[in-house]
Amino acid sequence: MDYETIEIETHDRVALLRLNRPRALNALNARLIGEVADALARFEADPQIGCVVLTGSAEAFAAGADIKELRDKTVAEAYLDDFLARWDGVARARKPVIAAVAGYALGGGCELAMMCDFILAADTAKFGQPEIKLGVIPGSGGTQRLVRSIGKSKAMELVLTGRLMGAEEAERCGLVARIVPADKLVDEALKSARTIAALSLPAVLMAKEAVERAYETPLSEGVRFERRLFYSLFATHDQKEGMTAFIEKRPPKFEHR
Ligand code: HXC
Repeated sequence: MDYETIEIETHDRVALLRLNRPRALNALNARLIGEVADALARFEADPQIGCVVLTGSAEAFAAGADIKELRDKTVAEAYLDDFLARWDGVARARKPVIAAVAGYALGGGCELAMMCDFILAADTAKFGQPEIKLGVIPGSGGTQRLVRSIGKSKAMELVLTGRLMGAEEAERCGLVARIVPADKLVDEALKSARTIAALSLPAVLMAKEAVERAYETPLSEGVRFERRLFYSLFATHDQKEGMTAFIEKRPPKFEHR
């Protein structure tokens, strides 16, 4: 597939996926969402990729769904086509996806960032769910993921008023993992991604799955789930290698099996 709205680079077991509709502040149209889903499916299937970084430009991670594309939709079109079903490819990825956010992450852009496993924010980042100002509400998980991420009161305020919040507030309330200077954002995200991609892929996938399970289950079931995954890792080559390397005081050579 020839990509028009995204750019891709891969090196050192890491894929960098850059949203690229600069004239529309990376507004998320159907083409872009389709291309992101296609690229992610490729990374998922590629044994040479261990981690993905999703980023935008210095001005915008993404300023939301493409309002020009949405304006004339009818209920029947929206419902029958179920276009939002194509949006959550990032949330379904098994490999880790890091969001590197500079500038605007609004509406569907904020939702897309929240579908990633964690968010690194440039000091220029601005997050918000301004859909209410357009006469609609968040449609791609924003009302749910924001509450789980930052709690009801702040999520409700942002969703009801459409107010934007800056990087410092976003870090304080736990939406972002950490803030980095804007000119270092992609390098820092790639550094984290390379660290993750060099680790044992089965352990990384299970760690992600176990953490995600915390959202979906009561504590006792989550702990049982974690324990089953933990036991199963003793069947991997990389568990023996990782522990042997520690005891022999040398770096491990993970084979991702
Ligand atoms: C389509 C958009 C866009 C969007 C920006 N543009 N955001 N086009 N959809 N969401 C376009 C503008 O039309 C303009 O192009 C160009 O990008 C630059 O934008 P400006 O507004 O001129 O820039 P600026 O004055 O710097 O303001 C930046 C901004 C503002 C504050 C981010 O653009 C803005 O408020 N954008 C909309 C944010 C928003 O409401 N997002 C939620 C969308 S709904 P032209 O060619 O016109 O000059 C949503 C629902 C998700 O996300 C539900 C799941 C699908």
